[in-house]
This record gives sequence, structure tokens and C-alpha cells, in this order.
Amino acid sequence: VPVTWPEWVAGEIASLRSAQQWRAIRTLAGRGPRFRLPDGRQVVSFASNDYLGLSRHPEVVSAAARAASEWGTGAASSRLIVGARPYHDELEASVADWLGEPAAVVLPTGYMANLAVLTTFGAGARVVSDELNHASIIDGARLARTEVTVYRHGDVEHAAALVRSAPGRVLVVTDSVFSMDGDLAPVAALSEMCARHGALLVLDDAHAVLGRPTPAPGTTCVRVGTLSKTLGALGGYVTGPADFVALLVNRARSFIFTTAPSPMDMAAATAAIGVCRSPEGMRLRARLADHVELLRPGHPTPIIPVVIGAEADALAAADRLLEVGILVPAIRPPTVPPGTSRLRVALSADHRVEEVRALAAALGELADVLPVTA
Ligand SMILES: Cc1ncc(COP(=O)(O)O)c(C=O)c1O
Repeated sequence: VPVTWPEWVAGEIASLRSAQQWRAIRTLAGRGPRFRLPDGRQVVSFASNDYLGLSRHPEVVSAAARAASEWGTGAASSRLIVGARPYHDELEASVADWLGEPAAVVLPTGYMANLAVLTTFGAGARVVSDELNHASIIDGARLARTEVTVYRHGDVEHAAALVRSAPGRVLVVTDSVFSMDGDLAPVAALSEMCARHGALLVLDDAHAVLGRPTPAPGTTCVRVGTLSKTLGALGGYVTGPADFVALLVNRARSFIFTTAPSPMDMAAATAAIGVCRSPEGMRLRARLADHVELLRPGHPTPIIPVVIGAEADALAAADRLLEVGILVPAIRPPTVPPGTSRLRVALSADHRVEEVRALAAALGELADVLPVTA
């Protein structure tokens, strides 16, 4: 029986709802981690990736405002047409200098930076990808229209077997900090393996706020980062050998066929890098590390998963926290594998110690009533 478009849409919505996978956008009024919900309730949010609170740092905010008055609000064109401006060059120079990389290029989002890397270097190569890599890596690999093989999470031996069985060029790609589990990729071992086999290593450092891993000497490595989390702005970047970055500028459709990033975001991110490199940046990271230590001693990153299992249980857990004024998102498939729905806590230097203590207490109470496994 032919189905009309409205019928098809209604059916899709019904199936998402019955699988407990329906999502609705929640508008939060406020700045930093303290918000008011639409119903007026005051909450402390542990949902944001503004790890150092730089999105509202006075120097970052005023740099963005100055950039808007000096350059206007948009670049209005692709960089390769007439969209390139000095503020893009300034940011790229800051990123490369800060990270000790030979070259950097900025894109409108981190998502697009991953598409750019995977399509430029993955085309015609075998892509070897960790099973828990971010959606933007998965989408980039699909767009590269090449052979993609997936290795078990963090399993270097499995990755090596896939690399060895490839006939030609190989690209190995991994999040360096996994966005939904907050664990670290085995970068030292992976990079040694890549160097041994002449494979290109691609690292996604989007969440590497507390440290960026160093690959083994002799590894050819291209890295992706974002301006949107630690740096409090919007945009993504790719760093690596100058020729690799230059090829990407010429090939990557997510760089070529889109408008260049805005003056405000470039200036904000440049100022945020300045803060990160200053003693204040060190203090903010130390404060964030202390928060992590308080909530889960020994955990390496500010992303702390509380794995629950079923979608409905994860949603119930999030609702219980909200009753005591704590906002932690329930993360469900397809963002995480089926059966691993969870609460994803993201800590920030912007949180107060009492807020982290209150969260720890509330999570402790949850563990008494729900099948919390981590
Ligand atoms: C691991 C990872 N890579 C890339 C991105 C995309 O970055 P952006 O938000 O700047 O598009 C994200 C999150 O959004 C991420 O978690």
C-alpha cells in the first residue's frame, strides 16, 4: 500500500517514541552552568562541553565584540572565493603555535573538520576506525566512499591486524578522548603501530582539555580539534604537516563549499587560546582536574559516564536528578550502543566544589534504586 509522506513521518515518530528514543530540544535560559528551565526551575547543568568556562570569559567575550565591530558579523563567502580574512590567518597561526604543529586550517565546525580529513585522506585508502568513534568520523568515512573496517574499542592488536591485511594506503582514526565514555585512546601503542606500517594516524582531540597525547616519533599524524568546547567559540580545525593541510584545502568539500567562519568566533577562539596558555589557563585546568578527582578519583577526563542500560531507566535517572536541581543528560542509542544508555556527566572549571559534591551525593542515591553499572 503506498504511504503518503505525512503518514511516513507519523510512523517514524511513533517508532522513535515507542523505542524511548524521541528527543526534544530544551531551551535553557542562563549563562554558565546555572540555568532556569522553561518551567522556571533553577538547575545546575552538567551537560556542557565548555570545560574551562571560556565561552563567557571577559577577554574572550570582548575580543568577539571587537571583531564584530571591526570586521562585521560574517565572512559572506568561502575562503577560496573571497571569504579569507586576516582573523582566519591569525587564529590558524595561534592554533599551530599553541599545539606545536607545522600548519593549521580552520573550518566552520569540528564535525566538518572530520569530514574534511576523512574525505581528503580516506578516499582510495582503507580506513581503520575505533568502534566508538564520534559520528562525524563515521560520517566522514562514509563520505570518503572507501573500504572502512572497524576495530574493537581501544584494541591495538585488532587495529594492527586490519592494517596488515590492507593492500594499499591505510588511515587509522580514533578519538583521543572518547566523547561518551571519557576514556583515552591508546595513542602511544597505536602510533607506534602506524609508524611501523606507514599508516596515517588521525586523532580527534575534541575533548582533550586535560592533555593532548603525543604520538610516537616517526608517526605521520593529522589531528582534528574544535573551537567549540575548551575554547568556548564555534568552529573546528585540522593540524598536521603543511602539505597535508594544503591538500585538504584543495580537496575537502566541507572546506571548499561552505562560508568561512565568522570574525567573532575566530577572535573569541584566538583570545581563548591566550587564556589557555596563561597562568590562569593552568589554574582553570587544575580546578577541573580537582573536580574530576572529587567525583571519580583516577578518571582521566571530565567526561564521566554513568552507564545504566535501558533507555527508560536512563531517562528515569535523569528525571530523578532534575528533581533535585541537577541537569545531566540521558544519552541513548544511536549516540551510544543499544543497552548502554547512560547519564553523561561533563564537568567544567565553572562548577563550584559544592555543586560537584551535590552531584556526587545525588548519583550515590541513584545507585541505590537503579541498575547503575559504572
Ligand atoms: C569527538 C568529537 N569530535 C568532533 C565533534 C564535533 O565538533 P563540533 O561540535 O565543533 O562540530 C564532537 C562534538 O561535537 C566530538 O565529540
